[in-house]
Amino acid sequence: MAWSAAQYVKFEDERTRPARDLLAQVPDLPAGPAFDLGCGPGNSTQLILERFPSTPLVGIDGDEDMLEAARKRLLGLRFERADLTAWTPPQGAALFFANAVFQWLPKHIDLLERLVDALAPGGTMAVQMPDNLDEPSHLLMQETAEERAFAGAFHGRAIRRVPLPSPRTYLERLAPKAAKVEVWHTVYYHPLASANAIVEWVKGTGLRPYLDALPANRRKDYLAAYAEKIRRAYPAMADGRVLLRFPRLFIVAVKAR
Ligand SMILES: C[S@@+](CC[C@H](N)C(=O)[O-])C[C@H]1O[C@@H](n2cnc3c(N)ncnc32)[C@H](O)[C@@H]1O
Repeated sequence: MAWSAAQYVKFEDERTRPARDLLAQVPDLPAGPAFDLGCGPGNSTQLILERFPSTPLVGIDGDEDMLEAARKRLLGLRFERADLTAWTPPQGAALFFANAVFQWLPKHIDLLERLVDALAPGGTMAVQMPDNLDEPSHLLMQETAEERAFAGAFHGRAIRRVPLPSPRTYLERLAPKAAKVEVWHTVYYHPLASANAIVEWVKGTGLRPYLDALPANRRKDYLAAYAEKIRRAYPAMADGRVLLRFPRLFIVAVKAR
């Protein structure tokens, strides 16, 4: 799937807020390196650097456009290209931080177990994932894709992200490996300028697989049909703006010292 750093950073303040909230729950780190997994354009990496300036820090991402943006933002920091589905976590890490990446990896729970195993004593794994597949923003991408006008163009490919496992599943799998595991949801409410801003927001993330799967000459029509549904689903508030409801799941696991 192709990413665009320029599209992603259009809503950088809103997208970085959950990374701040996640980092606020990370306790002081033991010795060892920190890794920002799915570092994107380096926004989450910058927060980690500010909080833990003396910890060696590496950003990992699978997309060259994102890595280039991250390297420009944080000169001198190490950024490496890797596909997290095939990545072996290095032993003795102080922190694995993953903001808004594992929702794209259907079998991520196996990797989360390996990450906790690889932590140094007292180290932390901190993960946040959008849990928004049942929001109109995402239901309507799929509904539009299934319309007669577009279904053929997708050639029956399954585009919809796989729903996240339940909070109970994360706890059951991770608790035996850690001294403390916390799992919680936060629902963010983002006032945005217009329904079109919601379309622009998801063009940087959730809509990408749909647009990538469509032939180039069908994308404009698909976007127009989706945008029309979004306008109906997100009516204007009193001040003319619209409200994007955005639930996210957080997991913090701290290894025994
Ligand atoms: C939504 S961005 C998150 C960026 C940043 N962490 C933040 O807090 O805003 C998700 C990032 O995960 C990366 N990504 C998605 N799947 C990946 C994979 N299998 N391996 C490595 N990186 C991946 C994408 O390239 C993208 O930069």
